[in-house]
Amino acid sequence: MTILNKKILLGVTGGIAAYKSADLVRKLRQAGAEVRVAMTEAATRLVTPLTFQALSGHQVMLDWEQPESDFAMDHIALARWADVILIAPATADFMAHLAHGFASDVLSTLCLATTAPLVVAPAMNQQMWQHPAVQANTAQLAARGVHLVGPSSGDQACGDVGEGRMVEPHELVVFLSTLFQSSNRLKGKTVLITAGPTQESIDPVRYLSNHSSGKMGYALAQAALDEGAEVIIVTGPSASRPPVSASVIHVTTAQQMYDAVMGEIATVDIFIAAAAVSDYRCEQVATQKIKKNSDQYHLILQRNPDILAAVANLENRPFVFGFAAETENILENARAKLRQKKLDMIAVNDVSNPKIGFLSDRNKLTILWKDGEKELQVSPKIMLAHDVMDVMLEQFNIEG
Ligand code: C5P
Repeated sequence: MTILNKKILLGVTGGIAAYKSADLVRKLRQAGAEVRVAMTEAATRLVTPLTFQALSGHQVMLDWEQPESDFAMDHIALARWADVILIAPATADFMAHLAHGFASDVLSTLCLATTAPLVVAPAMNQQMWQHPAVQANTAQLAARGVHLVGPSSGDQACGDVGEGRMVEPHELVVFLSTLFQSSNRLKGKTVLITAGPTQESIDPVRYLSNHSSGKMGYALAQAALDEGAEVIIVTGPSASRPPVSASVIHVTTAQQMYDAVMGEIATVDIFIAAAAVSDYRCEQVATQKIKKNSDQYHLILQRNPDILAAVANLENRPFVFGFAAETENILENARAKLRQKKLDMIAVNDVSNPKIGFLSDRNKLTILWKDGEKELQVSPKIMLAHDVMDVMLEQFNIEG
């Protein structure tokens, strides 16, 4: 995975995250890429073009006409030069321009004049990101094959907390590397991925669940999409957003997840069970809110169906890939699960480490199969997901 010698045109638009784009240029160049920068007028009010000129080693494109500059390429030549155009940060306004094909400034014109892949890293206030107009524009861009990376969630410059932060520069470098190396190896294949937790009601206000965020399953879905697959996600409740190009079936309980998976499985080539399914549900769900009348309260739990094992036992089964979250004897337990559930492959993570795993954007996995294993180092989940695809495609003959 490399961006060595790749020609990257970085478009910077007027979001506060533009200050991170300066670091992004450094990181892209450190990874061996050639970088040229184009900015919108609004972006120049946040970071000076001189910063980007110094870091990229090239004059920054700001306007169609730059007679006073020594800029060697006009905008059409620049659009042809690029192996990829990366817009980071992409404001809601710029995404609207892009979605509707406006050529109102040099950057939006460059985006129309190129055949290179377009990667967009949205960055905006969380409320703006949720707005139906922004979501509609995002969906339109995705449908057109634009690669959307992020936004991620967390603290925002405006004081809000939520989804809308630009993904970190190192993650964008990783994304570009994976983009250059993915080669449609899953074209023509359908991948079904379960993701997130399930919730099992106790009474009308309470439920049993777990800390799964759905992020690993969504990252795997994105990686499969990047390899050209059709992707179906069956997901439990998650605060994260699944990739826009996947078909998504939302469920709450393990039984609903089982039913949704079984309803789709006949046309599936690869099944990846990344969901953290509740092993048990309440035998009886109280119809009214349970009162705290006694010191102890006993719940009687009933086993849920094991979705992964059920798929692995189908007569016409797809390639079956499971996950195991373990806190002790990690590899031994995972290898036993591989055997017992008759899986083709299993990925195991150590959920006792709070810095990685469940709620984190990063993870560390070991992949096991019948006669081999591979340890993948701690990295952002999207990168790890591409590594997982690599291992799967190297070890098994499932290419499209
Ligand atoms: O047995 P254990 O729950 O550790 O196995 C984990 C794997 O099995 C995960 O891939 C998970 O998605 C899957 N699983 C499932 N249905 C269940 C329980 C686990 O598909 N009821």
